[in-house]
Amino acid sequence: MPEKFYITTPIYYVNDKPHLGHSYTEIAADVVARYRRLKGEEVFFLTGTDEHGAKIEESAQKKGVSPQQLCDENSKSFKDAWKSLNISYDNFVRTTDKNHIKAIQSALQVLYDKGFIYKGEYKGLYCVGCEQYKTESELVAGKCLEHQVKPEVMKEESYLFKLSAFENILKKKIKKGELVIEPKERKNEMLSFLKGGLKDISISREKVKWGIPLPFDEKFTAYVWVDALLNYLTGIGWKGDPKFIPGFWPADLQLLGKDIIRIHSTIWPALLLALDIPLPQRIFANGYFTIEGKKMSKSLGNVIWPKELVEKFGTDGARYLALSAFPFGNDGDISWNKLIQKYNSDLANNIGNLVNRVLTMAENAKLEKSFSKEDDLYKIVEASFDKLNLKEILDKALTIASKTNQEIDKEKPWERDSSELGRLFYIWLERTRLIGCLLLPFLPDTSLRIFEKLGLEEQKRDFKEAFEWGGLPENTTLKKGEPLFLRVKS
Ligand code: MSP
Repeated sequence: MPEKFYITTPIYYVNDKPHLGHSYTEIAADVVARYRRLKGEEVFFLTGTDEHGAKIEESAQKKGVSPQQLCDENSKSFKDAWKSLNISYDNFVRTTDKNHIKAIQSALQVLYDKGFIYKGEYKGLYCVGCEQYKTESELVAGKCLEHQVKPEVMKEESYLFKLSAFENILKKKIKKGELVIEPKERKNEMLSFLKGGLKDISISREKVKWGIPLPFDEKFTAYVWVDALLNYLTGIGWKGDPKFIPGFWPADLQLLGKDIIRIHSTIWPALLLALDIPLPQRIFANGYFTIEGKKMSKSLGNVIWPKELVEKFGTDGARYLALSAFPFGNDGDISWNKLIQKYNSDLANNIGNLVNRVLTMAENAKLEKSFSKEDDLYKIVEASFDKLNLKEILDKALTIASKTNQEIDKEKPWERDSSELGRLFYIWLERTRLIGCLLLPFLPDTSLRIFEKLGLEEQKRDFKEAFEWGGLPENTTLKKGEPLFLRVKS
């Protein structure tokens, strides 16, 4: 039986269209999912859209369309964007799907029957942008940092979830690593947040009509985060009954942005514990992109859209630029200029140029199998994927390419007798093949083009074996074809 691997990304609010921030997590998850599939694991990769709540209601009203229209339109733009970025998800949850709604209602009923939901009154400062109550300590000059607005005072008759009951167990599990929160800084942040204590939270909304009605009191709709978090279960077919948990559960890896790690380290595991469902294996928060030192925002007009990236750099170019900009888990700053420079120097001038020149030189040569000592690449790949150090693998491909380009300049094959060249060409072509293997989960089309140029119809071999030296047969038929990447003008 192949090992199973269940990976999730956040489901995105449909009041917005997908931007680079959303795409970043999605591309990373896709690369991990592809890697796991290449290793022969049975992978389920879930994504989707978060379609209920006050924010969606407000946006629809502003646009003069119904909430459902807004959801349909923007959910499609997410699907289109993921298609243009070659995202290989296995299911796309929409929280307005009937099955999702029914499952959430069943789950809420279970929580109510078990006494984890009770009626009371809730008063707090609510930020509609975050769809979250805020504590005074989270505000700066009275404003939500993320949205730069003063949260509204909300007081409502409410159904509350007994979050406080899980404070100690969550602290213990996070501390002991039974609930893995990464990177380490985030884990520490969560532990210090938990020190401040957990209050019960309101999980019902009386004023918000665009939501899932509470099964035990239909005057209220469910708090959008409860509805959204449980998508990780409904997306693999859960119907809301804790006795029947789909086989892919627990999730092996949940990727998300650092702004929503807190909710994923508190309300999310608490809901699971209350339902008596195992916790996910690992939650990993990626950092934030800023654009030339500034937050990416529509009001600043500096948002980078995936469509623009794909138009300028192609699908694989966009995927490369997203993951090579800075280590996964860190914050980083980018600009159009930096992206163009990086594309030209890494892809066009280094990897692309290597493939083009080696194939041009070797096209009609007689190859002779020869050996070059290389690092144990598969070990590097495994270790980097385990740590989610994705950039490290791209950097490795670049290093091999630059080393080979330098060797070609030094060896000057154009000045040599053709009898000496078969062995050199073999080494350079074999390294090109290995670059293709390294890039396969990241730039799948580019890798297949590299294999095709090398006369390898498809990389059918076991992924691990593919990294062994000597995979290229001496008698292969090279097909130079078109260059992989064309330089982009600024
Ligand atoms: N709907 C919730 C998630 C529910 S998951 C059960 C939500 N949606 S969101 O659309 O606002 O944000 C989704 C993701 O995009 C978050 O992980 C967030 O961190 C990420 N990003 C938004 N802007 C970003 C950057 N500028 N940079 C990197 N990621 C960013 O929250």
